[in-house]
Amino acid sequence: MAQAAIDEARMGEFMGRMAGYMTGGAICFGVWLGDELGLYRALAEGAKTAEELAKATGCHARLVREWADGQAAAGLVEPDPAAATYRLSAEGAAALADDNSPVFVARGMNAFLSVSIDHEKIAAAFRGNGALSWGDHHPCLFNGTEWFFRTGYRAFLPNDWLPALDGVDAKLRAGASVADVGCGHGASAVVIATAYPSSTVVGFDFHPASIDTARKRAADAGVSDRVSFELADAKGYPGSYDLICFFDCLHDMGDPVGIAAYAREHLNPDGTVLLVEPFAIDDKSTNLATNPMSALFYTVSSAICTPNSLSQEVGLGLGAQAGEGRLREVFEQAGFSRFRRAAETPMNLILEARA
Ligand SMILES: C[S@@+](CC[C@H](N)C(=O)[O-])C[C@H]1O[C@@H](n2cnc3c(N)ncnc32)[C@H](O)[C@@H]1O
Repeated sequence: MAQAAIDEARMGEFMGRMAGYMTGGAICFGVWLGDELGLYRALAEGAKTAEELAKATGCHARLVREWADGQAAAGLVEPDPAAATYRLSAEGAAALADDNSPVFVARGMNAFLSVSIDHEKIAAAFRGNGALSWGDHHPCLFNGTEWFFRTGYRAFLPNDWLPALDGVDAKLRAGASVADVGCGHGASAVVIATAYPSSTVVGFDFHPASIDTARKRAADAGVSDRVSFELADAKGYPGSYDLICFFDCLHDMGDPVGIAAYAREHLNPDGTVLLVEPFAIDDKSTNLATNPMSALFYTVSSAICTPNSLSQEVGLGLGAQAGEGRLREVFEQAGFSRFRRAAETPMNLILEARA
């Protein structure tokens, strides 16, 4: 095959980009270590030498120093060469040490770690029929997904997204019934139950281990009186609801049209579907060129979301970058007459569907 001549400047730029991605992958792992081992939490209590940090966390001092230098080079911790200490800024502590902060991201790294652990299964799906079911991934994925999305749900769901829906906030305040379909570890269901104590929330998921964890999360949050979790497929849950939610999961499912139609049949009169999906721009070229999240979402979609969809009935394989236009088609095919974008963040599209 004839090779085009290599342009040295473009080659340099390409390799610079590769160095950034390699660093990013390594630092994601370093962030996972920092959270897992309690290194960030110990640093958030005050500047420490590597030896002090190792002692506070029960870790090996030489390895901790190497990790801390990597974190310093990445700009995540601040070194003080004179005192040989490392410290976390207030911003670093919020993002990496405080799992109640609205910007905590550290534990979400579990999701990125999971694809490395599952690399053989994912490669087999690529070489085979494309299918890999959610529950066949390493548990790191389930934890990582919870923590990756929970921060946004806590920050935006009660304050922005639910009030942006037509009449839903008032209904929830008065006491409404909510289904959270594909609820995973229940992060969104717990946020809704906490914000709206007069409402009742049922989370449904087809993954038994996630339902077990979701029940624990509700008990820990003290909201088990008004939120429950049941094992059910997205086309097999009982009951009817004022609000049916799909948080970052519809595109993972095999039959989004059938699932949306099932939701329509299970809405109370004048009910609402809340669809939260990864942010994407409808025009693919624009999405690829200007959506800073698209590289991450497409890559994760190829390894997790789309294989799960392909493992299920219909196997539509919508993908995590379907975008509003494609999702509108899904809801129109499912018989909904109204569909609109209610809100958005750099991470998510918040869409409202009414029968
Ligand atoms: C990306 S996770 C999102 C979980 C949760 N909504 C969140 O935002 O943290 C997708 C979830 O959809 C669930 N799921 C996938 N297909 C399903 C189906 N057909 N029926 C019910 N749940 C399903 C998976 O078990 C998983 O918990």
